[in-house]
Amino acid sequence: MARIAPSILSADFAALGAAIDEVAPEADLLHVDVMDGHFVPNLSIGPPVVRAIRRHTDLYLDCHLMMTNPGEYLEAFQAAGANGCTVHVEIGGTEDLIGHGRALGLDVGLAANPSTPFAAVAPYLDRIDLLLLMTVVPGFGGQRFMAEVLPKVREARAEIDRQGLPVAIEVDGGIDCDTGPLAAEAGAGIFVAGSSIFGQPSPRQAAAGLRAAVDGSAARARTG
Ligand code: DX5
Ligand code: ZN
Repeated sequence: MARIAPSILSADFAALGAAIDEVAPEADLLHVDVMDGHFVPNLSIGPPVVRAIRRHTDLYLDCHLMMTNPGEYLEAFQAAGANGCTVHVEIGGTEDLIGHGRALGLDVGLAANPSTPFAAVAPYLDRIDLLLLMTVVPGFGGQRFMAEVLPKVREARAEIDRQGLPVAIEVDGGIDCDTGPLAAEAGAGIFVAGSSIFGQPSPRQAAAGLRAAVDGSAARARTG
């Protein structure tokens, strides 16, 4: 079954608690985009906000660290109540970062930008919980889905299945009821969505609609 991860980047930060409550019945994880102004040309939120969210909800907090130095902050995110932290492979030091996250008791994810080949993440599949394949160039919500990433999703799905690994494939960027099914057919299992959920009049209905769309297409991929 697909898992839906609303990205709070597109929520109203002045009413974050209410935005989380609105989507909670349809959210399997809450996606928290952390941007450092270096790895990506934008700034967002950090551990103090994660701590405030943690006090507000029991949802799984899926923290996507778009940072050049996440190792300096993993402990702070863990202490703030993050469940999982995902680091980008492009910054290097991947082996140590994975070990560090594990030692803290976090679920560990590895992210790849659209231009980063599958070969860059393949060596780490046996020691991560989550593979995050970006379907936009990270930095901003509301961008257009890049269908050219789909072959990489297929490649990752095939290799994870071949090795029988318990690694979830998450897609992030431009995911909606049209593009989510394409990613589901390619083998993604977790669907991050910001603007297509929080940018809608009813975020809860939008999340439910996305779930129905991706579940339907995953079922067709299995039977067809
Ligand atoms: C992009 C972030 C995404 C973003 C997705 O840099 O990593 O999580 O919030 O937003 P949408 O769904 O609007 O593309
Ligand atoms: Zn993200």
